[in-house]
Amino acid sequence: MFWQGSPASRRRAPHFSPGAGERTAHVADDRRPAPADAVAMTNSPLMIETRGLTKLFGQHTAVTDLNLQVPRGCAFGFLGHNGAGKTTVIRLLLGLIRPDQGTILIAGRRVADDRERVLARVGAIIEEPHFHAHLTGRENLHVIAAVKGGEAETRIESAVARVDLNARADDRVGTYSQGMRQRLGIARCLLADPELLILDEPLNGLDPGGILEMRMLIRDLVAEGRTVFLSSHLLDEIEKTCHEAAVIDRGRLIAQGPIAELVGDRGSLEERFLQITSRMGGPS
Ligand SMILES: Nc1ncnc2c1ncn2[C@@H]1O[C@H](COP(=O)(O)OP(=O)(O)OP(=O)(O)O)[C@@H](O)[C@H]1O
Ligand SMILES: [Mg+2]
Repeated sequence: MFWQGSPASRRRAPHFSPGAGERTAHVADDRRPAPADAVAMTNSPLMIETRGLTKLFGQHTAVTDLNLQVPRGCAFGFLGHNGAGKTTVIRLLLGLIRPDQGTILIAGRRVADDRERVLARVGAIIEEPHFHAHLTGRENLHVIAAVKGGEAETRIESAVARVDLNARADDRVGTYSQGMRQRLGIARCLLADPELLILDEPLNGLDPGGILEMRMLIRDLVAEGRTVFLSSHLLDEIEKTCHEAAVIDRGRLIAQGPIAELVGDRGSLEERFLQITSRMGGPS
């Protein structure tokens, strides 16, 4: 059984799982008809929860029986080697691909029931944020806000300020550094006033200054009460930035919990990561 206890009990100790099969009960199918009250369930202490999540690409099982629990209001690191399944899980969370088995809940609501409403206050960047290079940062945000509608337009200036892009917002995005594009990506997320930000490798390619800026920005977003879920290979940075983390190895969740408890008696998160992933070693 994988994290069957309450979030409070789960905080007491991280869970390490050597392999498959711990949780086979309660695997639901996202394609079932939605219960009538599903969209009204918003008081879950978990911002993200997956139950028995499984995804196959042809014969290859990319994600296996994944039971992820991300509390509200924290920075949560999602760790794994190349090909472990991080981006696949993120695409599943965002309803961009359909699970073969399992359930995904965001803020207590099933994504499969009403993707648009459930994800209305979720902002995401998958791998690299893409923009119109010939338009300025501000113009790009106006284009996106026009598509989003609602209050997005009114949030542009505060989003630009929030990510500290004021000085360059009227320059063409083609002239931006990678760090500036990442920050513009976060500004784009903020147009939805997200309660959850899902960032796939937001630190990739950033120099030490850019990484530090991103760390401060993530901390500020959490201080505002948002939840930030980020994948990364930079274990040291996850240790500095995040409250909790999960480790995925060959599509299976092998550990999750508070950072300090994941590190345990090892010197660092990196040491723990290498210890718990090495026994799964070899090509998948
Ligand atoms: N569209 C697809 N079709 C077939 N296989 C896929 C597809 N997307 C991902 N995979 C496979 O699923 C596995 C997980 O890939 P995924 O991109 O989720 O890994 P990742 O943890 O994000 O890796 P990285 O750190 O390199 O970004 C890999 O074996 C990959 O080849
Ligand atoms: Mg990836």
